[in-house]
Amino acid sequence: MSASASWIARDAAAVWHPFTQHAAWTADDPVVVDRAEGPWLWDVDGRRYLDGVSSLWTTTLGHGHPAISAAVAAQLAKLDHATFLGATHAPGIELAEALVALAPEGDGPELTKVFYAGDGSSAVEAALKIAYQHSAQTGRPRPKFVRLDHAYHGDTLGAVAVGGHDLFHEAYRPLLLETIGVASPGDRALGPDRLGTALSHLRSVMDEHGDQVCAIIVEPMVQGAAGMLDYDAEFLRAARRLASAHGALLIFDEVATGIGRTGRMWAAEHAGVVPDLLTCGKGITGGYLPLSAVLAAEHVYEAFLSRPGDTAPRTFFHGHTYTANPLCCAAALANLRAMGEEDAVGRAARLGERLGKLLEPVAAKDGVVEVRRLGTMTGVEVAPAGDRTGFRVCRAARDRGVWLRPLGDTVVLMPPLTLGDDEADLLVEALDAAIDEVFA
Ligand SMILES: Cc1ncc(COP(=O)(O)O)c(C=O)c1O
Repeated sequence: MSASASWIARDAAAVWHPFTQHAAWTADDPVVVDRAEGPWLWDVDGRRYLDGVSSLWTTTLGHGHPAISAAVAAQLAKLDHATFLGATHAPGIELAEALVALAPEGDGPELTKVFYAGDGSSAVEAALKIAYQHSAQTGRPRPKFVRLDHAYHGDTLGAVAVGGHDLFHEAYRPLLLETIGVASPGDRALGPDRLGTALSHLRSVMDEHGDQVCAIIVEPMVQGAAGMLDYDAEFLRAARRLASAHGALLIFDEVATGIGRTGRMWAAEHAGVVPDLLTCGKGITGGYLPLSAVLAAEHVYEAFLSRPGDTAPRTFFHGHTYTANPLCCAAALANLRAMGEEDAVGRAARLGERLGKLLEPVAAKDGVVEVRRLGTMTGVEVAPAGDRTGFRVCRAARDRGVWLRPLGDTVVLMPPLTLGDDEADLLVEALDAAIDEVFA
C-alpha cells in the first residue's frame, strides 16, 4: 500500500472534510500533502504538483517564504498569544497601521480603522453586524442587506444570508437574515447588457427598499466562487452613489480579490471607488495562518463611540478568543512588507497578462465555453460533458503535475502572485492537455 493510500484510509475513518461529499471522497483519490516550497506541493509519496490555486487562493509569494517564516519564528519565540480584549500588542498595531496605509483611495471615505477576525467568513460576519448596528446608532435600525445573485461571502449564517449561490446556500434560507437579491452584473445569463440589467435592478431595489437597507455588499470586480464572474467597474461606481444617496453603507468583500490577486492591491482600485467597510482575508498572511480583517471608514467607527446621554452602549460587542493572534499578525506584516519589496502586485499584473496570452488558444478549443480573468484570478469554463467535467479536467491536470480545484464546471487558475514564466507555461500546458483528454 502506498503512503498516500494508507493516510487516506486513516483519514476516511476519522475526518469530515469541508465542502466534501464523503460518499465519493476516497474514490476521488485525494492528494495527501506532505510539504511545500515556492509554488510547489509534494505528496507523501514524493510526487510534485504545481499549486495552481495558491492553496485555496491564499499563497501570495509561494510556500516557505524565508522572510515570513523568519517573522513567524521570531514572534513565536517572543509572544505566542495574548488576548486583544482589554490588551494590545505590537504586531496587531503595526499590521493595522500597514493595512490603513495600503487602503484603497478614490471616490468614498478614507478607511482608517482595522477590526480583526479569523477567516473570510468571520470578517464578513463582523462587517454585517457593524453595518446594522451603525444604522441603529445613526438614525434608526435598518434590518435589510442588498446582495448580488451568485455571491459567495463565506459559510457562517450571516455570510450565507448575503450569498446567492444556490448550491451552497438554498438549504439554509429559512434560517437567514432578511436580504434582497439583485441581478449580478457578472451573470452571463442576463445577455449582452448584463451591466445595464443589474444596474436598473439595483436602482429599483434601492428606490423601493433603500430606507430599510443598512448595507449593499458585493465582491468587487469578480464574483470568485461563482466561477470567476468578472464584471464592469461602472457597477461599483453606481453602487457607491446609490448607497450614499440612500444612507446605506457599501461593503466590498475583498477576501478573494484583495492583496494583489487582481493585479492591483485591491479590486476597488479598478473602479476608483472606496467602500465604507472592506473585508480581507485569504492572502493577507501570504497563505501562512488564518487571519482576516475589516477596514472601516472613520465615520463608521465614530458611530460606535459613546456620547453623553446615551441610553444604550454603542460598543461593538463582537470578537473572538484568538482575535489578532500575534503569530498571524506577524505573518501578515512580513507578507505585506515582502510583497512591497518584491513588487508582488506589479508581478501579479504581468503574470495575469501572460496567463491571458497563454490561454488565448485554450479559449478557442472545443469544450471551452469561456475564459474569464482579472489579474491572476482566472476561470476556464468548460462545457458539461458527462458527470463532473470540471473535476475531471482538474484530475487530468494533476496527472500532468498541476494541482487545480474546480468550481462546478469552471476550472480555476489562481497561482501565487510571483509565479515564474516556466511554471506559468506548465500551468497552461497541463490544463490544455487535460481539456484535450477529457473532450477526446
Ligand atoms: C469573497 C469571499 N468572501 C468570503 C469568503 C470566506 O472566506 P473563508 O473561507 O476564509 O471563511 C470567501 C471564500 O472563498 C470568498 O471568496
